[in-house]
This record gives sequence, structure tokens and C-alpha cells, in this order.
Amino acid sequence: TNMSSANAPKVFVSRRIPEKAKSLIASQCNAILWEKDEPPTRAEYLEKISGIDGLFCLLTDKIDAQLLDAAGPNLRVVSTMSVGYDHVDVKECARRNISVGYTPGILTKATAELTIALLLATSRRLKEGIRAVETGEWGTWKPMWLCGQGLDGATVGVVGMGRIGYTVAQCLNPFGVARFLYAGHRNADAEAELKAEFVDIDKLYSESDFVVACCALTPETAGMFNADAFRKMKKTAVFVNSSRGGVVNQEDLIAALESGEIGAAGLDVTTPEPLPTDSPLLSLKNCVVLPHIGSATHDTREAMAVLAAENLIAGLKGEKMPSKIDD
Ligand code: DGY
Repeated sequence: TNMSSANAPKVFVSRRIPEKAKSLIASQCNAILWEKDEPPTRAEYLEKISGIDGLFCLLTDKIDAQLLDAAGPNLRVVSTMSVGYDHVDVKECARRNISVGYTPGILTKATAELTIALLLATSRRLKEGIRAVETGEWGTWKPMWLCGQGLDGATVGVVGMGRIGYTVAQCLNPFGVARFLYAGHRNADAEAELKAEFVDIDKLYSESDFVVACCALTPETAGMFNADAFRKMKKTAVFVNSSRGGVVNQEDLIAALESGEIGAAGLDVTTPEPLPTDSPLLSLKNCVVLPHIGSATHDTREAMAVLAAENLIAGLKGEKMPSKIDD
């Protein structure tokens, strides 16, 4: 049924999104669409959301008390097209009886796949290799040129053995990984299937050849990968981050890469995003940086947008949301 009449709920969609999700929203709501890839300015955002019942937002949108005030008392659903929700003040939403939806599960495979692509690009030095081919630095075949770290026989430390961390470990297992260590919340399936060992974070740092960050950004994980952590890692360690830039102390990471405290880093997330092109991370040959594309497959982005739309609509109707954040 088409509800887009005068009494249909008013919603704001803060970016250009896949057609399927857009038409789903438009069929049920009075939708104010920001049909651009570039976000509205904060001022435009605050103006657009005045009086809305529901908000469809992205991880780039800071959903805080100021924004909720600007929306006003009708707002009852915030639906983010992301699994991460560190940009949403969930407590403030709960206080105002605003339901918050997110998109776990459907992006797990795509994000794990990209994490592995990034890990391999970093450990096998693809950035340097591609550059050498393109610049003509590629001479004859040399026995000791562009050698990296292999996964066969390696110890992999996963920080955050949740949906994505577990899938990363499962996908890496056939490469011949000898041991999986992990820290964060206990995961019985990973222990049974992969013999993953739940260890103290210091043990994970000191014994891992690869350290992969798959944890959510929370007050506990913010800046946890700092000078202290890098000092505890092997000099050859390959550090990979596909969660949020905020889990890393980036200055400390730069120093660790420059001084050889660790071997290399692969980052799909940085602080800030986009990363300024003069960041030292980009001139380091042992650092690969990608533009936050973990979930970027056509199917996954469409599924995320549709799930976020379904969360929004269900929440507005007072029905059970398919994926709601429980605070
Ligand atoms: C998320 O969903 O939180 C990712 O960062 C983008 O897919």
C-alpha cells in the first residue's frame, strides 16, 4: 500500500542510495531525499530534519543531542545504513524513546573479503610491486626482491572475534595458518572450529605475525592500538584494520611504521576520512591505505540500504525492526 500521502510519516534520507531502497521508502513515507553523494552540511542537515518522524542516515552523520533537538519530538526512528554505530549517541536516543536500527550480518562476507584482500596486499607488498611495474623499476627476476610475510604456518591474532573477525579467520584458515589467537568477547564457535585461543591482549600482540582489528569502536577500544601495543608486537608484524580509524592512535602507528617497530600496516579506515593526501601514511612503502570500502560490493550495498529502509519503516509502524540496536 502506498502511504505517501499527507499523513504518511515524514523521513529524511541523507544521501543518494540504491534505487530499490529508495523506492521502498518512497512507497511508505513522505520522503525528503538528499539525492547527492556529497553529504549536506551540518546546517543544511539540521534544517532538513526539522519535524521528521524517521531518519535514514550514514556512518558519516553524527547523530547527537543537537541533531535530535533539531529534528524535534516527532522523531522516533533512526536507521543507519551501517553495522557500526559509534556515530550515533545510542543512550541519548534511548532516553528520547527513539529506536535505532543498523545493518549487521549482511555485510559480513564482503567486509571479511576486503579485509583479506588488504591483508594480502600488505603482507605480499602489492603496492610496491604494482608501483615497480608501472615505473619501470621492475628489472630482472631477483631471488630476494619484494619478499613478504606468508600466512602458511603463521600465527594470526584477531582483535574482535565477532561476525566479521570470525569470518576473516575462517577464510584465512585454508592458507595454512598455524594458530589463531583472539581477544575481546569469547566466541565458542571459533574455539571449536578453528581452535582459536582466547588470550590476553599482550600475548596476542607478542605472538602474532598478523594482528587484525575487527572490533567495534567503543570507549574501551578507542585508541587501543597505540605506541605501547605496537612496541609489544613483533618487528615483522603485519597490522590490518578494517573496523574504525578511531581504534588506532594514528600518530603512534606512523611512528611504529617509520621506526620498524612493526613490519607493515593495511588500513581500510583512518582518522580522519578522507585521509589528507599529505598524511605520512601515504608515503610509507610499508603501508597500504584503502578508502573505507569493506562493504563495497554492489549486492551488499543494496542489501544494506534495503535493510536500513526496512528497519526505518518497521520502526515507524511500531512493528518489530529486523535489526534493532538494544541498548
Ligand atoms: C559499517 O557498516 O559500519 C561499515 O563501516 C560500512 O559498511
